[in-house]
Amino acid sequence: MSNLTPDPVIIIDFGSQLTQNIARRVRELEIYSEVHPPRETAAEIRQRNPKAIILSGGPASVFDPAAPTVDPGIFRLGVPVLGICYGMQLMAHLLGGKVVPAEIREYGVTPFHPEKEVSSLWRSLADQSPVLMSHGDALLSLPKGFRKTGRTRTTPVAAMEDGENRLYGVQFHPEVTQTLHGTDFLRTFLLEISGIRPNWTLSGYIERQIASIRETVGKDHLICALSGGIDSTVTALLCHKALGDRFQAFYVDNGLMRMGESEQIIRDLQGLGLPLTPVDAGKIFLDRLKGVRNPERKRKIIGKTFIDVFWSEALSLPVRPRYLAQGTLYPDVIESVSHKGPSSMIKSHHNVGGLPKKNPFRLVEPLRDLFKDEVRRLGTQLGLPETFIKKQPFPGPGLAIRIIGAITPERLRMVRESDRIVREEIGRQAIAATLWQYFTVLLPIQSVGVMGDQRTYENVVAIRAVSSQDGMTADVAELPHTLLAQLSHRIIAEVRGVNRVVYDISPKPPGTIEWE
Ligand code: XMP
Repeated sequence: MSNLTPDPVIIIDFGSQLTQNIARRVRELEIYSEVHPPRETAAEIRQRNPKAIILSGGPASVFDPAAPTVDPGIFRLGVPVLGICYGMQLMAHLLGGKVVPAEIREYGVTPFHPEKEVSSLWRSLADQSPVLMSHGDALLSLPKGFRKTGRTRTTPVAAMEDGENRLYGVQFHPEVTQTLHGTDFLRTFLLEISGIRPNWTLSGYIERQIASIRETVGKDHLICALSGGIDSTVTALLCHKALGDRFQAFYVDNGLMRMGESEQIIRDLQGLGLPLTPVDAGKIFLDRLKGVRNPERKRKIIGKTFIDVFWSEALSLPVRPRYLAQGTLYPDVIESVSHKGPSSMIKSHHNVGGLPKKNPFRLVEPLRDLFKDEVRRLGTQLGLPETFIKKQPFPGPGLAIRIIGAITPERLRMVRESDRIVREEIGRQAIAATLWQYFTVLLPIQSVGVMGDQRTYENVVAIRAVSSQDGMTADVAELPHTLLAQLSHRIIAEVRGVNRVVYDISPKPPGTIEWE
């Protein structure tokens, strides 16, 4: 973690899916937050000079022998602590209270009854405010010095506190939107109880990062691979500002981009004044992918080829660079420090373009403290045009994972042409602004059709359009039938070799957004 950030609120992660939400909510209050694993000692945590500590929820039970725990010394640091769900149960358990399996498990949104007269935490929480509860254990008796401060219909002790030592627990989840006044509640805890002054703004971030990059790289040279996406572009802008002509960027064209995309990316990046070397490597990628059908093999070959091409370019520069900049974001950092470790692998996203063990460069990661929307705001401050800020995500392996089965120049043409039509037609509609991604997938089957008086036996294209907050879950876009009809009509008329178009109506989960 960079030492350029203000004193943090430390969030200890016990493996909840919602830990990132806690960090986001705290950042939204303009307070800097960091997620730490439970194994850190109280002394290590004290060194970070935290202004408050939040214990996350988690799937374990405190009496489970393998349950994650914390150094109880954190409760004696004199820093306010808030335990959420499992975090509250663990606090109670470690301080001498009793946790038992709940008689009635409680899942869902329920009215909360705060005991306003006994706690100053409830200033912003009206009686019967809806809160999200999700727990199988409950508190039977409180630790010494604590009192009960709230209940729900089925959970008699749904909140507790030791006001004197500023230790608080809530059974509900303030970090989710279903808890109507969750952010207000966190504001009361952080601003009023913990006395934190919000000072996490991005305005000073640019200057601090530029200074840090200069200090790290010294008189050496730094390189960076650009994809045309916002993370690598913002990373490059910061590095370029810091190092001037000791910075060099590369754009590796893997031959798997959408129609006209590589040309556009190169124009846009050069338009930003970045020193950019385009590398046309399409042939190498397509040769290595010849006949490969397995999606994970495709990803691995593309990742490895990317490294091979990029490093051979970088190492043939007149001055050999010692540093490599990467657009790693905070969610990747959280994932790697989390209690549960990297979450179970569904697709090897993070390995694409990931670094092999033998890396000749030292890493510079100026965005590793930030969430995606913070990077977007930083991009705006650095003068990036809207087209960059609002780009749809596009997977690293490109169209290779949108051609189900083997990749050939002919099949690439079909997916490119149909994708262009879908982007053009949906892009004209108001609904486009509400969608996360829309694209086409070329299926590995042929179907019978009739065109004019001729029987055809040609390819099938699927249209995929989804809305999503973060790509983790997604809903099928409700495209009007007239629009779907227009897409089908144009694709069949204009894309040679396609005689059938289908619309994918699978949400995520159980589907994924991409088909491979
Ligand atoms: P899935 O298909 O897992 O996709 O629901 C979620 C989001 O991730 C993108 N995606 C990838 N991005 N490399 C990437 O950089 C990959 O291998 C990859 N696979 C999927 C996908 O476009 C969606 O936004």
